[in-house]
Amino acid sequence: MRRICWLTDLHLNFVAPRQASAFLDSLQQMPVDVLMVSGDLSEAPRLQLDLSEMSARIRKPIYFVLGSHDYYRSSIAAVRWNISQLCQRMPNLTWMNEAGVVELSPETALVGHDGWGDGLAGNLEEAVQLQDELQIEELTTYDRHSLFSKLGELGQEAASHLETVLGEALKKYRNICLLTHVPPFAESCWYEGEPAGEHMLPRFTCGAAGRVLYRLMSEHPDRKLTVLCGHTHSPGEAIILPNLRVWTGGAKYGQPQVQRLFWVP
Ligand SMILES: [Fe+2]
Ligand SMILES: [Fe+2]
Repeated sequence: MRRICWLTDLHLNFVAPRQASAFLDSLQQMPVDVLMVSGDLSEAPRLQLDLSEMSARIRKPIYFVLGSHDYYRSSIAAVRWNISQLCQRMPNLTWMNEAGVVELSPETALVGHDGWGDGLAGNLEEAVQLQDELQIEELTTYDRHSLFSKLGELGQEAASHLETVLGEALKKYRNICLLTHVPPFAESCWYEGEPAGEHMLPRFTCGAAGRVLYRLMSEHPDRKLTVLCGHTHSPGEAIILPNLRVWTGGAKYGQPQVQRLFWVP
């Protein structure tokens, strides 16, 4: 058995330094073996600092993906490069985009990828606009129409990675956890306590990832998949198939919290 602490959408850039330190110290004292972070830890100018602090204070394996806000005030390319370098220097940090199948126990594996709201769910014509296209360098150059082709590419990148690593994990492990930022199914997507509306879903769901997960888990009814995600800040659990469930985490800016403690066999 391994004891897991799941965190999401901590947005540490909205937290006073003393409060952030106290929160990280409280995590270090928790009787858990592994931490999982499903994105939006901070914003790009201080993301490396926040991850380094976390790595140094907690001193346990930390598996994470990046969320949309982690790229704010920089570019996807620069953040990815910096985080890749950081993980080479900090051996207890693992960015799931660059990891294959991580064994948590002889029965359970972890896989993951950032994911992205890719426009495959909901009503594209009425889709909300987000700060992403003002704050993330690569997204500032697109108009409303071409933005969705770029978001589609990002979603497809996540789906291709997940197809490879989940396919690999299913060969060996009975139980699999999957860490991602953006909910992969409309059914796992809430906003302010209600199912997210058609205008929210294009930006709140990674449909390409959802299609891959649905297909692979339909083909492997004897395996079990638990998806851990965030992004919408509104919590819930969705049972997509008898062997595929999604936990979506809740969050409030300025109030970092433990999302869930759980065991895996
Ligand atoms: Fe967030
Ligand atoms: Fe997000």
